[in-house]
Amino acid sequence: MSNPALQRTVLVTGAARRLGRDIAQALARAGWRVAVHYRDSEQDALETVAACTDLSGDSDSFQADFNDEQAVRALISRVVQRFGRLDAVVNNASLFEHDDAASFGYQAMQAHLLSNTGAPIVLAQGLQEHMRARIEAGEPDARGAVVNLLDQKLWNQNPDFLSYTLSKAALEAAGTMLALALAPLVRVVGVAPGLTLTSHLLSQERFEALHRLSPLGRSSSAADVASAVCFALDNQSMTGTTLLVDGGQHLQRFERDFSLM
Ligand SMILES: NC(=O)c1ccc[n+]([C@@H]2O[C@H](COP(=O)([O-])OP(=O)(O)OC[C@H]3O[C@@H](n4cnc5c(N)ncnc54)[C@H](OP(=O)(O)O)[C@@H]3O)[C@@H](O)[C@H]2O)c1
Repeated sequence: MSNPALQRTVLVTGAARRLGRDIAQALARAGWRVAVHYRDSEQDALETVAACTDLSGDSDSFQADFNDEQAVRALISRVVQRFGRLDAVVNNASLFEHDDAASFGYQAMQAHLLSNTGAPIVLAQGLQEHMRARIEAGEPDARGAVVNLLDQKLWNQNPDFLSYTLSKAALEAAGTMLALALAPLVRVVGVAPGLTLTSHLLSQERFEALHRLSPLGRSSSAADVASAVCFALDNQSMTGTTLLVDGGQHLQRFERDFSLM
């Protein structure tokens, strides 16, 4: 990229590891300059930054804990200060801890709502303010986009992970409201993966068996989720809608969360 001031720039939250890293690298491969957000995984974040720098010429890491509203609010301006511009936010970071109707409490609900709903909304708000500032500075066509990582389980609910599911349901509803409120400056699109990566709750063998449980015989790959994010950021006509990237898992009835089946 010959002129860094013209390189489109994206903030990917929770991009140190797992799906966030795949999304960051796919965006860097597509030419985006990537701001890599992390909370605790500093070493992994530096590895994501190195990979993104190799792919698109520049990248940097930004630490923030999303329980801290001021830290979330400062994130957009820190990225803008470092790169000179910000064009998109991918809200990928997420808390995923188990609770259900029996164990539900304010503490779990609050933690999930802060990191999975509040922070993405504050970041979308910050992106709109940045777009306004760019327009006032003489860039009338400045436009931004937000992608919110959701979950196919919103369309196929079960009683597990109650606070997590509530926080993602709230984010899905916020997607509609923000698409209206932030237009025409910022588009808002959801991407809802199915079972994509395993966790400590599942053996590799069990994960592979569950991954096959879908109309297409496979759930989402990280590459397919990342490519949906790239598409949502590129497609200038999409807002207020969600891409379900899950092999059709949302069309099937599952009584429990995959990790507890
Ligand atoms: N994995 C799947 O199969 C799957 C399925 C459906 C939907 N999704 C969605 O896809 C996204 C990525 O999934 P994933 O499994 O890769 O996510 P993950 O590993 O569970 O979490 C991603 C990152 O979120 C960050 N994070 C958590 N709480 C935070 C907080 N309070 N403040 C700041 N950062 C915080 C952590 O960063 P640090 O490590 O730096 O602390 C973590 O590495 C999520 O939004 C998830 O809901 C995933």
